[in-house]
Amino acid sequence: MLQGKKILIGVSGSIAAYKIPILVRLLVKEGAEVKVILTPSAKNFVSPLTLSTLSKNPVLSDLELNDSWANHVMLGRWADVFLIAPLSCNTLAKMATGICDNLLTAVYLSATCPVVVAPAMDEDMWHHASTQSNISRIRSFNNQVIPVEHGELASGLSGDGRMAEPETILQWVKDFFFDKEQLKRRKILITAGPTYEAIDPVRFIGNHSSGKMGVAIASAFVKRGAMVTMVLGPSHIPIPQGVNVVRVRSADEMYQVCDQLFENIDIAVMNAAVADYTPIIVSTEKIKKQADSFSIELKKTKDILKHLGEVKKGGQFLVGFALETTDEKEYALKKLRDKNADMIVLNSLRDDGAGFGHDTNKITIFDKQGKEYLFDKKSKQEVANDIVNTIVELYV
Ligand code: CTP
Repeated sequence: MLQGKKILIGVSGSIAAYKIPILVRLLVKEGAEVKVILTPSAKNFVSPLTLSTLSKNPVLSDLELNDSWANHVMLGRWADVFLIAPLSCNTLAKMATGICDNLLTAVYLSATCPVVVAPAMDEDMWHHASTQSNISRIRSFNNQVIPVEHGELASGLSGDGRMAEPETILQWVKDFFFDKEQLKRRKILITAGPTYEAIDPVRFIGNHSSGKMGVAIASAFVKRGAMVTMVLGPSHIPIPQGVNVVRVRSADEMYQVCDQLFENIDIAVMNAAVADYTPIIVSTEKIKKQADSFSIELKKTKDILKHLGEVKKGGQFLVGFALETTDEKEYALKKLRDKNADMIVLNSLRDDGAGFGHDTNKITIFDKQGKEYLFDKKSKQEVANDIVNTIVELYV
């Protein structure tokens, strides 16, 4: 399955480095071409001779070799994926802050390929706020993080922080970098765009949502081999190839379609800016101008996300959005709980370049445990990738 794929492994100083020869063997067996870089301290944990024998390539660890320069730029360009395993606290901190004092960190900064890391550390180090903030930071650079496992640690204690087993890392490499396979045949429902609530035949209550974010998410899912249905409110945005679109106008129409489709859906992403209120009476004729003031009585619409959260079955994954202007985190977490979602994507209108109409967005994601995933301001396509990557991490 990995025939011809070029995998560069960066090993940093952690006891879990003893598992890397097994990983190299598994990757080579799958047909991958493997090269290995060690940090100076990794050499204390695993032998370069073992790794060069198994990878069938010289192992590099210094920026200079026999008076010549190790070309870190070309190494980063050679690889289809740069896998840093085990990732120590020290190397993580360097990656998060751009410190470049060895070959591994130089390759990291110059790599043009995707980077995936498998952290390994003691439980208290893993849970330390600085480690978690560094992990969030490298995630915001689009680096993928293979979750740590729970179990026996080098300290003799037991807890979170064990590096994923070589077989798990192999599976990640296969799944993650062969996108088409990743969400193959998964059925995705996405709501997008605004809704228009009719007042009379010519007027409506609407909002400024363009549908851009929902369309970018649909496109990111299609790239992973998923089957995507988008329930789209009134929007003129072009639809990417491979997305099945159901066009709706009002919140109630959107609700009816989602309710009907949800039973056969694996992952639902509720991105639409659905009207919270709709006129109680819709005039069949155009309302004529009369008195100086005029009011319309409104009733609440049905909350689609909340309804899907109520009927959700095991194995279905539900994602909500929260667009907030104040107390963003509290409101987002409240929506996550109240609507029984599995993940919520927060946009703050206070962030420059976030929200309606922009080509960029800045998000923070919360999972069911309240864990926070921070991202920098990016293009909507990159944000869509971050959202889909996080869904894959939490769901698949
Ligand atoms: N949502 C929905 N159906 C509605 C209203 C909202 O599916 N009738 C979904 C949105 O698509 C979004 C999430 O609920 O994923 C949160 O929407 P938002 O408008 O931020 O929250 P509300 O619950 O409407 O609360 P408020 O407007 O008071 O912030």
